[in-house]
Amino acid sequence: MNSFSSLLIRWQKTHGRHDLPWQDTTDPYRVWLSEIMLQQTQVATVIPYYRRFLARLPTLADLAAAPVEEVMALWSGLGYYARARNLHAGARAVMAQHGGEFPREPAAIAALPGIGRSTANAIADFCFAARVPILDGNVKRVLCRCFGIEGFPGAPAVERRLWQLAAELLPRQRVGVYIQAQMDLGATLCVRGQPRCGECPLADRCVALRCGRSAELPQAKPRRALPQRETTLLVLRNGHDILLEARPPQGIWGGLLSLPELPAGADAQMHAATLGCRVQDVQELPPFVHTFTHFRLTLRPLLMAAQPLPQAAEAGRRWLAPAAMKAAPLPAPIRKLLKTLSGSL
Ligand code: ADE
Repeated sequence: MNSFSSLLIRWQKTHGRHDLPWQDTTDPYRVWLSEIMLQQTQVATVIPYYRRFLARLPTLADLAAAPVEEVMALWSGLGYYARARNLHAGARAVMAQHGGEFPREPAAIAALPGIGRSTANAIADFCFAARVPILDGNVKRVLCRCFGIEGFPGAPAVERRLWQLAAELLPRQRVGVYIQAQMDLGATLCVRGQPRCGECPLADRCVALRCGRSAELPQAKPRRALPQRETTLLVLRNGHDILLEARPPQGIWGGLLSLPELPAGADAQMHAATLGCRVQDVQELPPFVHTFTHFRLTLRPLLMAAQPLPQAAEAGRRWLAPAAMKAAPLPAPIRKLLKTLSGSL
């Protein structure tokens, strides 16, 4: 059976990218510059910046000697400017700490400002024939899908597992081609939105493809648990009409019409009386949950047959007939509840 790495290396030969401007060199300065520029930016955007940067600062010594303002000017338009500041500081560190010679050891490379473990390893693989794995966002996506790895890949336990796996998958030889293949597969076929699995050399062994889970893997960063709140809503029904009131302009659903809320601790029948209703039976309807940006609200509706007391209708409160519901400014979950209720009449 073909190994993971041999499938990728074969694919890279015919389908990978071969003429990117940083691929014709093993100069660590050039490879470093390309990897930093490519961290948050697409290849097509990077290429002219990369060329311009090197035309002006062709060697690491030139970069170290340049004023930081000049480096920022060459970076201007690429964004994430900490990358440029770190690059400049990194060049000065190579001059000061390594006598101007770019370090060859992955750990020493990773000790330079702005270079993480994956970028350091890529530089060592491409420039110094090292045999160390990389694990950037593209590689994480390929591994999570192909091996069906659950969990957010940025979570420490998942990331440890991915580094381990990436190390086990390394070929004995042609590591540079293999690393480039991983980058190319993640950037061209195994993309986030619509992966092109029909063209993928790993399709036969991809767990996510087999299980129809390519859209779910890798898993997204878990959202922080939202605070929970709950409220009781009074569904006061007179025939087919429902009592609604205007929400205060501030707060949730400000300015919309909604069902009256039962204040915490209040008695439903007594509160209905303050709303101008005499009620008979009280029926608890199934609760439902609505998620706002900052909290999750459980709504508990109480359905009551109500008779309006002879009392002047208060401002902001009105009986709504089913025919008027469509045009009324109701929050979506309240509209849904009322629709369900009118369907069950
Ligand atoms: N993205 C990150 N590194 C890359 C490289 N060497 N070639 C293409 N895309 C990349």
